[in-house]
Amino acid sequence: MSGSENSAGAAHGAASLTNVRHVTVIGSGTMGSQIAMVSALAGFETALVDIAQDPLELAKDQLWKRVDRDVEKGRRDGGDVTAAKNRLTFTTDRDAAVASTDLVIEAAVEDLAVKRSLFTSLDAVAPERTVLVTNSSNIVSSRIADATGRPEKVCNMHFFNPALIMECVEVVPHPETSAETVDTVTALAEAFGKSVVRLRREIPGFVANRLLNAIRREALSLHDEGIADVEDIDRAARTALRHPMGPFELMDLVGIDVVYLIRMAEYEQTGDPGSLPAESVTRLYEKGKYGRKTGEGWYTYST
Ligand SMILES: NC(=O)c1ccc[n+]([C@@H]2O[C@H](COP(=O)([O-])OP(=O)(O)OC[C@H]3O[C@@H](n4cnc5c(N)ncnc54)[C@H](O)[C@@H]3O)[C@@H](O)[C@H]2O)c1
Repeated sequence: MSGSENSAGAAHGAASLTNVRHVTVIGSGTMGSQIAMVSALAGFETALVDIAQDPLELAKDQLWKRVDRDVEKGRRDGGDVTAAKNRLTFTTDRDAAVASTDLVIEAAVEDLAVKRSLFTSLDAVAPERTVLVTNSSNIVSSRIADATGRPEKVCNMHFFNPALIMECVEVVPHPETSAETVDTVTALAEAFGKSVVRLRREIPGFVANRLLNAIRREALSLHDEGIADVEDIDRAARTALRHPMGPFELMDLVGIDVVYLIRMAEYEQTGDPGSLPAESVTRLYEKGKYGRKTGEGWYTYST
């Protein structure tokens, strides 16, 4: 670890969270619902917003089942969970939630036009002090910040799925994000019990997914050039590198469609042909072999 300015595992310190008491999460899908629960469990008054009642009811049902199971299994304290449930509200009234909130985490659908329009609306209603962050995996916040009148209070705050479990949160400023905003978002993530990775400047894919992509790209090139079989490349990752699963097993778990679409989205941003999906991934995608969810991808699964 020598040569690093920070000691391993050290928190980012300095930042103070005195200004954040109320958090609003926009979008109650896979990510937003769990991010809101993480926030409530960490002691913040939290509102979870969606465009319709159905996704909110589904989110509530799934979250309650999940945390109740955690209590039954002794992984969480019953009193803490009850208090967190009381701190979390589910609403379609976005403007009312945002009107008195300190920080908004946007986790709505991955669509630039939707996000830009959302940020314009949030900017119009949120108090001047309020920080607006996006959980987007692929859209850097400079593409959204100029839809607001407060670009210095906008950045990416990137959680990993499942957000209740995964420790990492990447905090990614765009060129106009203020140091104060980065500190506030970092401190919030740490208050959520997360391990924060701070980027100095934005880049598509941030850090974790770029590392993942580098391994995936190499695995695909070893396979596509006929150097080794899928099973052997996965075995090397598991038994030599101690990865919990190999890159091909992971692609089947995540979904070949997701892998393909993420590469296409990156290509749209970079214009770099190196961002395009590997030929073998494109072939699987075009045949509808999406991995575990369709019963076949790199491997075949019995249902
Ligand atoms: N799924 C992942 O593994 C993952 C991981 C990290 C980050 N992300 C990012 O998180 C964001 C959400 O992804 P997800 O997988 O949770 O999506 P999802 O499709 O599960 O949920 C999106 C939710 O947003 C709601 N929504 C759409 N437009 C809205 C609006 N205008 N206002 C309020 N709610 C709206 C939808 O009704 C839906 O409930 C995306 O930007 C994605 O890039 C996803």
